[in-house]
Amino acid sequence: MKIINSIIHMQALAIAPEREGRQISFVPTMGYLHEGHASLLREGRKRGDLLVLSIFVNPIQFGKNEDLDRYPRDLERDFKLAESCGVDVVFIPTATEMYPQGFQTGISVRDISLPLCGASRPGHFDGVSTVVTKLFNIVRPDVALFGAKDYQQLAVIRRMTHDLNLPIEIVGMPIIRESDGLAMSSRNAYLTPPERQSALSLSRALKRARELFLAGECSASVLSSEVRTLIEQDPLVIIDYVEVLDGEMLQKVKYVDSVSLLALAIKIGQTRLIDNTIFGEEF
Ligand code: PAJ
Repeated sequence: MKIINSIIHMQALAIAPEREGRQISFVPTMGYLHEGHASLLREGRKRGDLLVLSIFVNPIQFGKNEDLDRYPRDLERDFKLAESCGVDVVFIPTATEMYPQGFQTGISVRDISLPLCGASRPGHFDGVSTVVTKLFNIVRPDVALFGAKDYQQLAVIRRMTHDLNLPIEIVGMPIIRESDGLAMSSRNAYLTPPERQSALSLSRALKRARELFLAGECSASVLSSEVRTLIEQDPLVIIDYVEVLDGEMLQKVKYVDSVSLLALAIKIGQTRLIDNTIFGEEF
């Protein structure tokens, strides 16, 4: 497994497989890897000849009062997990090389970036779209894999790839959960044991909404208020949003069908967590 820090080395390394018609698969991350990331890497391994993982805590997707400075990091552990998933190249650029003095270009995907996390974290998806475009240009992948845990991010990247005619296949992968239902996230490391317990209310509430849907409930407002009520029972959890939307354009819907998305974001103490479900898909 090669570890590369400089952009020019990464670009040089990507040219050979491109010329030889070998496929590059790519999993961009911010590190502190867990089984959710591993599932993307294993699928990436199957889909490409050269598997590239990037680890970069992207400063421009964090708001002023967010957790950029304390975002968890453990490169040694990340390398072990990457190696066990068959990663060929780990690309770890520096922020100064990614955003040198004078940097001023951004990619903005309009409507789909605005609701949900885009409303609570202004500018977040511009930061994501810009860094992913840069990473795509540096790694030059044929296939790139993203998790449905960050559902809106996946939708934004799909839209951007399509709109900009990028010759890259975007693969969306299911949410990987702990055995008790908590969606895996690097940010779970922030949770104290009581907060970790409270965080279970998210997946429990989503599961309940799915059960109601399967029992015939189709009203978006009934389903979302049931989720709110269940989560609000936990005094440590503060809801940011609970929304029911269509899974493609992320527009609010009144009636739910199997492709509708129920997405939520909450805060427990200092930690912001997100989770979601598509009613017709496996949980
Ligand atoms: P990060 O949060 O490290 O996530 C990297 C990838 O792993 C994303 O595609 C995310 O959706 C996926 N992922 C995280 N938890 C998952 C889970 N429990 N199940 C399945 N997939 C999961 O998302 C980012 O980094 C950044 O915004 C990035 C795209 C790298 C741009 O900076």
